[in-house]
Formats: sequence, C-alpha cells, structure tokens
Amino acid sequence: MNKNKENYILPEMRREANRSRRNTAAECSRFVMSEEAENLGRGKKYYIRTYGCQANVRDGETMAGMLELMGFVMTESVEEADVLIFNTCAIRQAAEDRVFGEIGSLKSVKARHPGQIICLCGCMAQEEVVVEKILQSYPQVDLVFGTHNLWRLPQLLVKVMTEGERTIEVDSEDGDLIEEMPVRRSASCKGFVHIMYGCDKFCTYCIVPYTRGRERSRRPQDILDEVISLKQQGMKEAVLLGQNVNAYGKDLKIEDGFTKLLESCAETGIERIRFYTSHPRDYSVTTIDAMVRYPNIMKSLHLPVQSGSDEILKRMNRGYTADHFRQLYDEMRAKISDITFTTDLIVGFPSETDEQFEATLDLVDYCQFDMAYSFVYSPRSGTPAAKMADDIPLSVKKERLQILNDRLSAIASKRNEAYVGRTLKVLCEGPSKKNQNVYSGYSEENKLVNFTGPAGLKDRIVDVKIEASHSFSLDGSAL
Ligand code: 5AD
Ligand code: SF4
Repeated sequence: MNKNKENYILPEMRREANRSRRNTAAECSRFVMSEEAENLGRGKKYYIRTYGCQANVRDGETMAGMLELMGFVMTESVEEADVLIFNTCAIRQAAEDRVFGEIGSLKSVKARHPGQIICLCGCMAQEEVVVEKILQSYPQVDLVFGTHNLWRLPQLLVKVMTEGERTIEVDSEDGDLIEEMPVRRSASCKGFVHIMYGCDKFCTYCIVPYTRGRERSRRPQDILDEVISLKQQGMKEAVLLGQNVNAYGKDLKIEDGFTKLLESCAETGIERIRFYTSHPRDYSVTTIDAMVRYPNIMKSLHLPVQSGSDEILKRMNRGYTADHFRQLYDEMRAKISDITFTTDLIVGFPSETDEQFEATLDLVDYCQFDMAYSFVYSPRSGTPAAKMADDIPLSVKKERLQILNDRLSAIASKRNEAYVGRTLKVLCEGPSKKNQNVYSGYSEENKLVNFTGPAGLKDRIVDVKIEASHSFSLDGSAL
C-alpha cells in the first residue's frame, strides 16, 4: 500500500470548534454511483460492525445499501469478509478502546485473508488523535473516511481496491446533504429516518458537534418521501432521528419546524412514529400537543437532563435549570398523564460535589423516569470540559453510578408493576435475543415486552396481556 501522507485528507476537529453559525440551509445533491464502482463488489462479501447510537445504525444501513449496489453480499463472518467496516462512536473513551482492541485483533485475520480491506468510519474517524494512532500503529487499516463523506464510500473503495492505495479522507466541512442514497434496512418492521444531521449545542462534555458538524435539516419533502416509502414497504414504525430534533427546520427558516414535520409524518398514516433525541432548551410544548392530537405519534419522550444541579448544568452549557426541567415535566404530565418519560444522566462531571450529585437524585425522584441511560463522565479530547480538572476519583464516580442506577431501577420497577394485568399493543420484532422461544417487541409506550404466542407474529402489532414486570421489561402472552 502507498503510505504517502500528502495524499491524505486528515481531520481537523478544531475547525469545527471555530465554525461560524451560518444558520443557513445546506445545499442538496443527489447520490449517483460511478461506473467504475458498479460491479466492483461482484463475488465479494462485506461486513459492517456498528457502534453507538441509532444515527450510526442508519448510516450503516446506507453503507450496506451502497455496497449491495456495487455487487457485494453481506456476511456475518469477519474472516470471510473482503471489506470490513468499523462504523464507530466517539462519545466515550470506552467505546473507542473497544474499537482499537478489535482492530488490533484483526491483524491475524487479515494475514489469513490477504486482500481483505479494513475500513474505519463514523465519529472516531473525525478525531485527529484517532487518525494519528491509526497511522502510527494500525497498518492493517486501509481506509478511513469521516461522517461528512460517507456517500463517497464507493469511490474510496475504487481507489483502495483498484489502485491499491491506503486512503484517508476525512472532510472537516459538512458539505451538501446527499439525498436518494441507497439503503438496506436492518429491521423489517421499523425504519430509521434522519431528519437532520449535526449539533450546534456544544455541551461542554460532548464531542458530537465536532464529529457530526453543524445542524443541517433535510427538506421536509425528502423526509416525508422516506416515511411514505417505509409505509409502502409494510413497515409499521418510522423513527425520526436527530441529535437535537427540536432544532429541526431552524436553518430552513421554518418556525416550530419539528412539530410541523411530526404532524406531516403522522398524516402519512404510518402506524407509529417515534423520535430521538429532544433537548430541554429547544423543546416546544407544541410537540406534546401534537402527540395528543395524533394517535400514531407514540406517547413517549426521551429528554436528556444530564444533571439535577444548576451549577453543573451551567458548566455543561446545557442552557436550562433543574427547575425549568421540572416545569417541562409537570406540563407534559398534565397533558399526557401516562406518557413514558426517559432521560440521560452523567455522574462525575468535573468538580461535581456530593450535594450536586444528590440534586441529581432529587430530580430523578421528582420525575420518576421509566428508564434512563446513565454514564460516568468521560473526558473527550478537544471539548471544553476536557480542559477542566477531571478531579472526581474513579471510585467515587463508580459509587455514584451505582447509587443512581439502584434508584433508577427501583423507580422503573415500580412504574412497570402498574402495567401488570393490562393489554398493550406490541410491535413484534421477532424472537427475543435471549430466548428464541419467546417473542420480543416494544409497546406503544415504548416498553420492552417479551411474550409467548403462536407462530407468524413477527412484524405484526399484537395485543399482549401483561403478566409480570421487571425493572426494564414486561412479560406477557399474545391474546
Ligand atoms: N461522558 C459521558 N457521557 C457522555 N454523553 C455524551 N458525552 C459524554 C461524555 N463525555 C452522554 C450524554 C448524552 C448521551 C448520548 O451520552 O448523556 O445525552
Ligand atoms: Fe452532545 Fe449536547 Fe449536542 Fe446532545 S445536545 S449531541 S449532548 S452537544
């Protein structure tokens, strides 16, 4: 492989930190497959390993779509794959360490499969420190590309496969929105739909605004076309995705854009609509009103709060206080009393005192979350918080996480008990991962339900009588 560094386009995370908030709409282009890329994959196999959030899952589906258009066939085996893609997440250090561990172990796999192409993409590829490490210590990686030029995958593979050139192409400019990209969906009952890309919030701990670029909204019609196509394929659920969906349409100068979009998606008549993730600062109560008006907008809201301490929220640059969050919660419960409410929480942010951690526990008690993703703070190089002293010992962070998780799980158990004896409408995703004799799926309330029933329920919405409850799932049988 040619290791000429001059040909590399290396990431520049710092440029994202200084980017202007243009707040203008991104240009749109249409995806086209070049002639040289067509048929490049005939007789060859690909394997994609995706880490992280649903946005990454959706990106993985686009890559699979492109590869299949090129003639590649999917394989479940790392050994067999001619093209191996690591679609990565950078949100915490542990996620990155795992990827490096796995790529490290591929050296021997590649030795047995000469010509195997190993690619790294996704959020990690946007970080200078990661690409430097790849260049220095991971010669087995042939191709690195970033989140902004995912659509270039076919062309980049032409370069690597036909010219034998090691390629690093990580754009730091977000560029055009590319529409009409091929897709191979991983689920048959629900489909993910990006409504926007990037994030302008710059929470001080978070790397996403640097790795995913500025907020760019897709045009409403492109989104609606995708939702309609899901419905036409028989999918029951559309899941709308964005780092901060409440900011949807700001760049397109659409007022209250997210609620309007949600309503138009509901009007397509698809059976279920969900959306992730909301932000308390931009959140509009009109979204809850839309949930009340449209029965096919599911009554669950994921609203990350991160901390219950005003001082920590300020240092996180979240732009709201704990009381403001409590008010949002009260308003929401007043409008939809049985809404499922979930959140994200971080413990051990720099300088977090015992009292500030207690304030998080108080907020958890107040909001009675159905479920929460809880994390130990992980410093991310290049973010403002990484310059603050990471002064909470790991043992204290872990202890706080344990206390928080115990509290969350006690609340979740109590909330789930209330479902025993009720009948829920569950979208059956197929056999449960843990037990092939049991189905699993999500109810309208977004509760994970494991249930027994006759053959043939996959991809159908099934009435399930709930017989038992656990902290984070329910058991039942199909009626
Ligand atoms: N450390 C720990 N958790 C983080 N998150 C984002 N950045 C970090 C970090 N540096 C969490 C936040 C966010 C979720 C997706 O990941 O809670 O809402
Ligand atoms: Fe990260 Fe904050 Fe943007 Fe969420 S809103 S992606 S936590 S910067």
